[in-house]
Amino acid sequence: MTSEWWRTAAIYQIYPRSFADANGDGMGDLAGITSRLGDLQELGIDAIWLSPFFTSPQRDAGYDVADYCDVDPRFGTLADFDVMLAEAHARGIRVIIDLVPNHSSDQHEWFQAALAAPAGSPERARYLFRDGRGPGGDEPPNNWDSVFGGPAWTRVIEPDGTPGQWYLHLFDSSQPDFDWTNEEVRAEFRRILRFWLDRGVDGFRVDVAHGMVKAEGLPDYTPPAEGGSMGGAGGLEAVDAAASASGSAAAAGATDPVGATTTAVLSPPDEAGVPLEPEIHDEGDGAPYWGQDGVHEIYRDWRALLDEYPGERILTAEAWVDPLPRIAKWVRPDEMHQAFNFAYLETPWDAAALRRVIDASLEAFGAVGAPSTWVLSNHDVVRHATRLSVTEANPQGHGLGPRSKGLPEYEPGLRRARAATALMLALPGSAYLYQGEELGLPEVIHLPDDARQDPTWFRTAGERYGRDGCRVPIPWEGTAPSYGFGPSDASWLPQPAEWASLARDAQRGIPGSTLTLYQDALRLRREHALGAGTLSWLPGFPESVVAFRNGSIVVVANTGPAPVELPAGDVLLASGPLDGRTLPHDTTAWLRA
Ligand code: NOJ
Repeated sequence: MTSEWWRTAAIYQIYPRSFADANGDGMGDLAGITSRLGDLQELGIDAIWLSPFFTSPQRDAGYDVADYCDVDPRFGTLADFDVMLAEAHARGIRVIIDLVPNHSSDQHEWFQAALAAPAGSPERARYLFRDGRGPGGDEPPNNWDSVFGGPAWTRVIEPDGTPGQWYLHLFDSSQPDFDWTNEEVRAEFRRILRFWLDRGVDGFRVDVAHGMVKAEGLPDYTPPAEGGSMGGAGGLEAVDAAASASGSAAAAGATDPVGATTTAVLSPPDEAGVPLEPEIHDEGDGAPYWGQDGVHEIYRDWRALLDEYPGERILTAEAWVDPLPRIAKWVRPDEMHQAFNFAYLETPWDAAALRRVIDASLEAFGAVGAPSTWVLSNHDVVRHATRLSVTEANPQGHGLGPRSKGLPEYEPGLRRARAATALMLALPGSAYLYQGEELGLPEVIHLPDDARQDPTWFRTAGERYGRDGCRVPIPWEGTAPSYGFGPSDASWLPQPAEWASLARDAQRGIPGSTLTLYQDALRLRREHALGAGTLSWLPGFPESVVAFRNGSIVVVANTGPAPVELPAGDVLLASGPLDGRTLPHDTTAWLRA
């Protein structure tokens, strides 16, 4: 019998470097994860997703994989992985791991073999090597930039000592892109999938799932200035574009600032009530490296492979595409199960915008029979306890630091984040949480320059801070060395002095703490089957309020400055103190009504 557990699951992202460190070397590890699974069970999540722990030189924190079928010694061994997996399963927690198929590490044996082999060799054909342009081939083969800044091409020194071909890397120069037109690459990834499925993993979060296939001829391309670094205009632009594309009521008055070229026309449900495939008229967003149609046959192939295994193993796409209806292509019935909803993540704390993105999400995912996902934080974005209150533009990937402007105070930022989480966890579909958000951790702004490790920081000569501020090892015990992250005081990024009061042990069982709020929300979400519910908007509230019913629960979120009268009903959850029956600003309440 299938449960389709993934349609409603609350999935907790573990960033292994920063979760728990069993051996005290300052870097989290698999044994550390095992030791803290009880805390996650207590939190009430359904599954964990682990960012990479594979053999890697860690030039991009493990998203540079040198051996896809082994554990990096920093994180432990395959035996440690098996123990962690078995222990998680024994606690009823499913385990999703990261798959990084767009690129490997330059230390991968295939890339080393490619460097040693001549131009035109089968070894080079696994990656995207090209001759340079201009006299002597001194110019890169095209004008593409790396997501992390600087050119997307690096020139190699040939084995005879002369400057030679160039290889493509959409990310760091230590992350060469595979050539997915090469059947050998496809076969290798089937092998990797089977390796982990045979070990018992419940699924894969697929890194850069919009990037593996590049347009033929690798044509020059200049991205729009306002685009996020991973592609996609993000946030409101994507929502407005989606709304105007779908012609929904929510689109009234919305503009189409990115000139979206996608429209979704829904065909009527079939006899069983299952929505048929929408006809998605997709001309792409123009980037010859994001969202090429060829990626979809790869996912169909993988889906068929996963379906051979018992136990509903899943694929989740990390695909930064917009407008929203485009993402539906990744989750058609024979492709992936889920895709991250980055349009939701990038939506500001604004009631009208939230209503639009929620409508657009339910419509886009629902059109192909997929659940919507919801997410506010991950290891690539500024933590939402800070981000939702930043008042200056801050494109994804740029990060925050001491020179940044428009930074919020902690308490007001946290208040808004708690309200945003309470809203998110009441939505139908599957929700992703990022380690530490249940403690109310803010982005760490004041990291010393010499502690920063994100390649973005180095590739932009410090112009962009990058993502280290959301990756600081999390606090478990307020008075222990490294706040209980590990047995020593070592921590690969320094932890702020003011984190003692945010440690898990300082919040456990404390009414009103952020940890208690998350626990309560997750429990009520499960008890009231909100993940499997249906949303209907409630009229009669001020414009700055998001109010809806999901089953027996009424949710009211006040994004505006003025207090709002709550409707009748027992309050089951509130993200902050209520004033009698009034809901203060930046607060969300759940009522049984
Ligand atoms: C997306 C990952 O989430 C990010 O951390 C990484 O740097 C890039 N993909 C490249 O793998």
